[in-house]
Amino acid sequence: ESGKLWGGRFVGAVDPIMEKFNSSISYDRHLWNVDVQGSKAYSRGLEKAGLLTKAEMQQILQGLDKVAEEWAQGTFKLHPNDEDIHTANERRLKELIGEAAGKLHTGRSRNDQVVTDLRLWMRQTCSKLSAFLRVLIGTMVDRAEAERDVLFPGYTHLQRAQPIRWSHWILSHAVALTRDSERLLEVQKRINVLPLGSGAIAGNPLGVDRELLRAELNFGAITLNSMDATSERDFVAEFLFWASLCMTHLSRMAEDLILYGTKEFNFVQLSDAYSTGSSLMPQKKNPDSLELIRSKAGRVFGRCAGLLMTLKGLPSTYNKDLQEDKEAVFEVSDTMIAVLQVATGVISTLQIHRENMKQALSPDMLATDLAYYLVRKGMPFRQAHEASGKAVFMAETKGVALNLLSLQELQTISPLFSGDVSHVWDYSHSVEQYSALGGTAKSSVEWQIRQVRALLQAQ
Ligand code: ARG
Repeated sequence: ESGKLWGGRFVGAVDPIMEKFNSSISYDRHLWNVDVQGSKAYSRGLEKAGLLTKAEMQQILQGLDKVAEEWAQGTFKLHPNDEDIHTANERRLKELIGEAAGKLHTGRSRNDQVVTDLRLWMRQTCSKLSAFLRVLIGTMVDRAEAERDVLFPGYTHLQRAQPIRWSHWILSHAVALTRDSERLLEVQKRINVLPLGSGAIAGNPLGVDRELLRAELNFGAITLNSMDATSERDFVAEFLFWASLCMTHLSRMAEDLILYGTKEFNFVQLSDAYSTGSSLMPQKKNPDSLELIRSKAGRVFGRCAGLLMTLKGLPSTYNKDLQEDKEAVFEVSDTMIAVLQVATGVISTLQIHRENMKQALSPDMLATDLAYYLVRKGMPFRQAHEASGKAVFMAETKGVALNLLSLQELQTISPLFSGDVSHVWDYSHSVEQYSALGGTAKSSVEWQIRQVRALLQAQ
């Protein structure tokens, strides 16, 4: 006997290199718990179908509990022939309970087993990720609320654009992450579907009640087609894309904070807890946490692209290529869990330099408001834009700040300018004009905070 699950039709031995090449136990051992869970449910299904006696089922259930206990306590000993977690657990079960173990796999294939395990594992991980993501968003929203009176420059094209609230910036990232949070629940819904009972390709011929399996494993639904169920990995691709998009958002936020933390901007200072130094330059404090968040995005995208490439040319149905899905899932899950926690730490400990933020505002950033001033006096916006542009040019030519042009000088551009133009040069007055929903006025920022909180609660 070869000691393999599939040894019967083989005479020759497998090349040791091939043995190693084929083996997935080094990583799919992470599935030990869900594999036991799936097998326990399946043995109940077999008992109901009359394929196991009650006594045999009890033996199997107890044996599986023992297997799980060994994994949990770190005493499970792998055998050189354990090519994957399914093989390992069944081998050990047989050692523990004897021949009854040989009935557990009746009507089951590793094809429906592995994808059941993976879905169970991912369901748990998504709940964890969802919790971490919500903590991050909550931290950001709390910060936005506490610091809603802080103003600083908003940039487009990295050029000074308009004054905004610091909280408006925080919330711009928080609302994107809120969509990620919502998206994750969607992905989770499609992960949470039971494939067990699909066999290798054709289904189950022994009358196993899949509704019982679904209820045992607490899945939301049952896969519709056994060929699709055993080989489709769109739920994995979706998860990896979800992670990629979330990382895009986190990476962009990290990039902003890296810039804002330079001495040139000097708006924020990263806590020591999330920075590192230089082995050569004693003065350095580098934003490694943020740089790693930015770089981990690349790793996650790679996993997503890699899996799609693995999937695209596969003939139906199960092919061993699919074994490669798990490393992607494990690596991306670990990465996301770390990134979300570090991001939360960075945001909650970040110091802001309010004075520098304020000092960085300049009157040229109010040129748009100057045009709106004229609009309010009845000038069509296109003309107002032109007039404000002329004022900018005049100030530049004279080498003075925009707000230092005299009323007489402004009036050479348009007779609509009058004494009240002085209000335009007040930054607080500026931001308060943007009170339509979604804007940077205090009332709108507070509305955003309420909206994000409500969305998180409703999810
Ligand atoms: N280790 C395999 C995987 O991860 C389990 C399924 C093997 N199925 C098979 N027909 N060889 O995909």
